Amino acid sequence: MQLLALAFMVAATCLGVDAGRFITYPSHIRTKRDAYIVEFESHIPSTHVSRFHAMPDIIVKRHYTNAFNGISVATTKGLDPVHLANTEGVLRVWPVRYHYAFSPSPSSAQLNSTESYLHRMTGVQKTFEDLGLNGKGVKIGIVDSGVDYNHPDLGGCWKTKGCPWQYGKDFIGDKFSMSDADPIIEPNPTPMDCDGHGTHVSGIIAARGSQVHGVAPGATLGMYRVFSCTKDDVLSTADDIILQGIEAAYADGHDIINISLGGGAWPEEPLSVACSKIVEQGVVVVAALGNDGAGGLHTAAAPAVGHGVISVGSVDNWNITGNPGYITTAQDTKTIILSTPGSALNPFVFSSDVPVVAPVDKEGSILGCSNYTEDLSGKVALIARGTCTFNEKARNALQAGAIGVLCYNNAPGFTSPAIDKSIDIPFVIITEEDGKSVADDIAKGPVSIKAPKDEYKVFPSTTGGQISPFSSYGPSPELELVPLISAPGGNIWSTYPLKLGKYASLSGTSMATPYISGAIALLKQAHPKLTVDEIRTLLVASAKPITDATTGLSSSPYQSGAGLVDVYESIKSRAQIDPVALSINNTKMRPIQGYSELKDLGTVRWTARTITIKNTDSKKSVRVYHRDTVANSLSKYLANGTYTYTPRTWPVNTKSVPKSTLPQVYVQSADETISAGKTGEVTVFIVAPKGLKDSENWYYGGFINLDLQWDGEEKRSSYVVPYAGYNGDYTIQNVLSPSSEGLPALVDMNLTAIEDPSKLAIGGNTAAMVLFGIAIPSRQITLTLVNSGTGMSLGYLLDGYYEYSGFTCPNCTATAGAALINGTVFTDEKLVDTINVPTGMYHVHLKALRPFGEIGNDEDYQIWDSADFYVL
Ligand SMILES: *[C@@H]1O[C@H](CO)[C@@H](O)[C@H](O)[C@H]1NC(C)=O
Ligand SMILES: *[C@@H]1O[C@H](CO)[C@@H](O)[C@H](O)[C@H]1NC(C)=O
Ligand SMILES: *[C@@H]1O[C@H](CO)[C@@H](O)[C@H](O)[C@H]1NC(C)=O
Ligand SMILES: *[C@@H]1O[C@H](CO)[C@@H](O)[C@H](O)[C@H]1NC(C)=O
Ligand SMILES: *[C@@H]1O[C@H](CO)[C@@H](O)[C@H](O)[C@H]1NC(C)=O
Ligand SMILES: *[C@@H]1O[C@H](CO)[C@@H](O)[C@H](O)[C@H]1NC(C)=O
Ligand SMILES: *[C@@H]1O[C@H](CO)[C@@H](O)[C@H](O)[C@H]1NC(C)=O
Ligand SMILES: *[C@@H]1O[C@H](CO)[C@@H](O)[C@H](O)[C@H]1NC(C)=O
Ligand SMILES: *[C@@H]1O[C@H](CO)[C@@H](O)[C@H](O)[C@H]1NC(C)=O
Repeated sequence: MQLLALAFMVAATCLGVDAGRFITYPSHIRTKRDAYIVEFESHIPSTHVSRFHAMPDIIVKRHYTNAFNGISVATTKGLDPVHLANTEGVLRVWPVRYHYAFSPSPSSAQLNSTESYLHRMTGVQKTFEDLGLNGKGVKIGIVDSGVDYNHPDLGGCWKTKGCPWQYGKDFIGDKFSMSDADPIIEPNPTPMDCDGHGTHVSGIIAARGSQVHGVAPGATLGMYRVFSCTKDDVLSTADDIILQGIEAAYADGHDIINISLGGGAWPEEPLSVACSKIVEQGVVVVAALGNDGAGGLHTAAAPAVGHGVISVGSVDNWNITGNPGYITTAQDTKTIILSTPGSALNPFVFSSDVPVVAPVDKEGSILGCSNYTEDLSGKVALIARGTCTFNEKARNALQAGAIGVLCYNNAPGFTSPAIDKSIDIPFVIITEEDGKSVADDIAKGPVSIKAPKDEYKVFPSTTGGQISPFSSYGPSPELELVPLISAPGGNIWSTYPLKLGKYASLSGTSMATPYISGAIALLKQAHPKLTVDEIRTLLVASAKPITDATTGLSSSPYQSGAGLVDVYESIKSRAQIDPVALSINNTKMRPIQGYSELKDLGTVRWTARTITIKNTDSKKSVRVYHRDTVANSLSKYLANGTYTYTPRTWPVNTKSVPKSTLPQVYVQSADETISAGKTGEVTVFIVAPKGLKDSENWYYGGFINLDLQWDGEEKRSSYVVPYAGYNGDYTIQNVLSPSSEGLPALVDMNLTAIEDPSKLAIGGNTAAMVLFGIAIPSRQITLTLVNSGTGMSLGYLLDGYYEYSGFTCPNCTATAGAALINGTVFTDEKLVDTINVPTGMYHVHLKALRPFGEIGNDEDYQIWDSADFYVL
């Protein structure tokens, strides 16, 4: 036992010294069997690949040279991948990870351009009208699910003369499924889209039809298909294929590359690394922040967190396109919007009036969560959202004979549930407001509904211009400010494959991202010589902070970045602001010295930063005026200390907010006037809200506003630098979800908590698991089995060692981490060498590295120990 423990420790200390690092992923991440990505150190030449060609038991599958320095390999079954990590020149060895496309939430839709309103809000319309720009001459590479290039609004052509599609291919084919042991890859010269995702985003960038008008309809396009068809409700791919798509897009010389991925949280991950490397080589990379907003803070995904990548959050569209339903009562007829979930197979079409009723279930409730006694034959049922699943409601209505369901929301706007294919009656979502009004009508007398086929209408949205609830939140695990900017991504109407209906309304940060790609194409057309950094600063500094309708302050930069894109202002900009955003790192409590004005603040968390402003007007000098705007603070805890996913917001409203509870900005300006072509500096002191308690874990933020007035001009142009930070000692933050979430927990194989662990005896057919949640992505998590008598650790549990974990939450892509307790433990962090656990009393010791912590330094870990149990 002694020896064992020692060997175990030695292995751990050796890591990261000479050998490359073998990365173990958390168990909820699906990876490809016997396949790895080998990342070379940056100084290693690509000819290094020959060493791997020469190795037995290894097949070099792909060699990446421009976006990524490394290879992907397949190994003979059983080959220890650590062998690869120990090869000279290797930085890291990664399992090949499967990725999901960020699934958009569809709703049916079709009508003439609703974009004109949208494009007016983002300066795109003004750019079309006043500047006559359309993206001509700019090349955009799209890494996605392919495109239906036969769509008339997308040119109806492939690589012919004058066709917008001049580049691209299919790297994956239609048959790939991550459920297969050896997924089938069938590359093809043309990237036809069988899913719809890529066709929809292509339209947002560059549709040129009477129905949909993209942001940059003149751009030249390439489609690099890396997602296969939807199988088992997921649209999947793997790292090695995406890297191929990125490399090909880079090789074709695109100005802008837009990448579509889900999962991961770290800038160190291969796709983040590849994206950052392309950025360094002068290509703009735009990536979606993710659709895990329901999980709250720290749900930002890779590669959006990659250094230099433009990360994008989503705001809701001002208008929604949908099918109208005509509600008739004895008094009048009114129109409501019907939102059809994308997965629903039955269109809600009733060409003549059918009765609508609001039945109560066996429990007397309008929620429809138990059986109906009433016969609903020939009737449409109005049901409220909540308590049980949409499918349960639909099934209960179906069983009672209903011919359709109008389900009204219990939150603002719409939602798009996944409806089972077995539900063969139409099921649509309507707003809470419409639902309650129809319920009132039903209480007064008979009500009917008519919904004609192929009729579409545009409705104003009550959430227009607000951050979309699905949009993921920053910051990155190590407090980098993401997203950088926001664009419309909620309820976006765009092109769809001809076979799937030609047009659709979808929601997702996937829809906001191509909007930014298109915007950059316009900017690049106007100023072809801009560097990547200049593009980032022009775009971000010209954005407009978003006012949160509920608090009256700005939305946190961790939700919206600098705010809503304004393309026109970024094109007309005559200043370059650097840096583009201020990520406030961990700050200590201390007095501000040597700056008399701030002495009275006492001991505070503060940071000083310098912002440089380059006046790019060649003739006129500019005067700089400063202001600042405060944004909401966000916390993962409610006032009574209860953990919450949807963050708690401060202030509750703008009435009588103590100043001390808001962040404060003091500006000290070196140059108030900057001559033509010259650069000036502004120093800012950012003071965290002293009136908010450290123990309440607040994330604060705001904007430095620079109003620039050029010589002889009346109008001031407004520029913005977002800032955000954590109000406390971030290095002691807990990274595991708190015990109030019921985690970590010792559970049986049915995931039921074990009530009395002292009665648990592992062995024979009895195994158990430890489940845990990750609130802040952690660099290293270990779960070891410890002998409770001797205190000696025997080794890691299965899935008990991993690095670069992402976040988990009940409504997120990843729901929880899990490690198996079954009497076998691993003595190495690659989880290869096993021993059988001798009989005795044990407990599980879970260690999760806190932010900025050092691997191996015990003090930097959050610890959890399970109760004792027996291993027989
Ligand atoms: C849509 O646009 C086309 C072409 O501009 C026009 O002919 C048609 O009438 C429009 N449809 C509606 C519903 O506005
Ligand atoms: C998240 O999931 C919980 C159940 O685990 C549910 O009650 C809640 O409504 C969900 N929240 C969102 C925003 O979907
Ligand atoms: C509801 O109705 C179905 C079908 O009629 C039946 O199978 C089921 O047992 C009923 N459930 C309850 C709780 O009564
Ligand atoms: C679109 O939204 C705007 C802003 O809410 C509203 O004024 C306009 O009427 C809407 N358009 C339609 C056709 O509903
Ligand atoms: C752009 O990238 C985002 C994710 O980063 C993705 O969701 C979207 O589909 C991509 N758009 C295009 C046109 O490829
Ligand atoms: C942020 O602070 C931590 C320690 O608190 C440090 O380890 C890290 O390097 C800092 N990061 C940056 C970008 O300054
Ligand atoms: C804390 O407040 C929330 C919301 O007001 C409530 O749901 C929860 O039960 C409270 N928890 C405790 C421990 O009081
Ligand atoms: C898990 O559930 C199954 C089916 O309900 C049951 O037969 C089995 O005993 C349960 N296992 C444990 C460990 O509770
Ligand atoms: C525990 O599970 C692992 C993985 O399934 C298996 O290889 C091992 O044999 C199991 N150990 C025991 C004692 O059942």
